[in-house]
Amino acid sequence: MLNFNYNIPTKVFFGEGKIEVLGKQIKKYGSRVLLAYGGGSIKKIGLYDKVVEILRENNIPYYELSGIDPNPRVESVAEGVRICRDNNIDFILAVGGGSTIDCCKVIAAAYYYDGNPWDLVIRKAKIEKVLPIGTILTLAATGSEMDAGAVISNMETNQKYGIGHSGMFPKFSILDPTYTYTVSKYQTASGVADIMSHTFEEYFSNEKGAYLQDRLAESILKTCMRYGRIAIDEPENYEARANLMWASSLAINGLLGYGKDSAWTVHPLEHELSAYYDITHGIGLAILTPHWMEHVLDENTIWKFVEYGVNVWNIDSSLDDMEIAKLSIEKTSEFFKSLDIPMTLREVGIGEDKLEIMARDVIDYVGGTVGNFKALDYEDVLSIYKKAL
Ligand code: NZQ
Ligand code: ZN
Repeated sequence: MLNFNYNIPTKVFFGEGKIEVLGKQIKKYGSRVLLAYGGGSIKKIGLYDKVVEILRENNIPYYELSGIDPNPRVESVAEGVRICRDNNIDFILAVGGGSTIDCCKVIAAAYYYDGNPWDLVIRKAKIEKVLPIGTILTLAATGSEMDAGAVISNMETNQKYGIGHSGMFPKFSILDPTYTYTVSKYQTASGVADIMSHTFEEYFSNEKGAYLQDRLAESILKTCMRYGRIAIDEPENYEARANLMWASSLAINGLLGYGKDSAWTVHPLEHELSAYYDITHGIGLAILTPHWMEHVLDENTIWKFVEYGVNVWNIDSSLDDMEIAKLSIEKTSEFFKSLDIPMTLREVGIGEDKLEIMARDVIDYVGGTVGNFKALDYEDVLSIYKKAL
């Protein structure tokens, strides 16, 4: 196990009715609030009314930023910064899924930066300071509610990149699984694939000594396998929604990656798909993952696939190693299919024409190879895209 520094400062209030802590929590960090949300789902579920009622009861002035898109745009960030500056905002409350939370994190950082917020995303400028933010999560997927990262898109330049800063950890997150009852079947499936992908990105690593982290990862994968379909068939199943929600946070808050040196691979490949075609993040991950697994499976990596196949999919350990490894990949793909996820790029509107550009962008951005479980170059990335067609 490699050395690491533990730092997961976000306070989590988990369970039905936990919104009761909202007023008190906000007052710990600020007095004038930016209330930010997406396209209106929070109004349909009555959450908007509840939040506003609490803000009013607590005499907390608030200003709104609405209409944050899935794959949040840099334009929404700029708009949020403007509202914050015009109204002396000192706290940002994100109510929604990962897109709303990510947008708020970058607003919070860009508030202290005089130039174009996009400079921060492309790392042309450094994040120095960040306004405090809190979240109320409505979709189990990204883990943004408990991590320090954010992913922002610029559709004009077809770029989508992640950034992180320790100041971007939410101060608190309210995780009430009942808020996710209305998440569509498609978004539920996508969220499950996203949680699993975050877990895979940490799990498939060359570090052999992080036994504990790997068993935690396997538990998260099994949780997704157990509850994914249930949440789709029974959207108001509290147990399923609760387990997926907590899995979402634990998969990416750092726990699984401590003591390992995993470099993420499938995510940068997927971000290109979203940057050019605006597709749903988790769906893109599900499509690419089995092809990535097949591509990186070789004599050096097979041990990890055997561990995965036996521990997660209960494949008979007496089988030949290569058989176990291949079966584990097949089962991964079948599982995504069982959630009704389209499993080819063509099904989500992606053809052959931009595959080379996207593969080039992936490599240019990292300035070399991508990933380190098995490092991929331009030809590798292109080959994975082509197989996923
Ligand atoms: O916009 P509204 O009306 O709220 O509708 C949203 C949106 O259409 C809807 N939704 C959310 N909660 C709902 C609901 N509909 C009904 N009932 C509810 N309770 O779902 C749609 C998708 O929402 P979005 O926030 O885009 O989804 P998600 O949470 O999957 O976030 C995806 C974004 O997060 C990034 C992705 O790249 C993508 O841009 N990621 C962020 C990460 C991070 N910060 O650590 C890591 C991830 O790997 C990921 O890259
Ligand atoms: Zn993700």
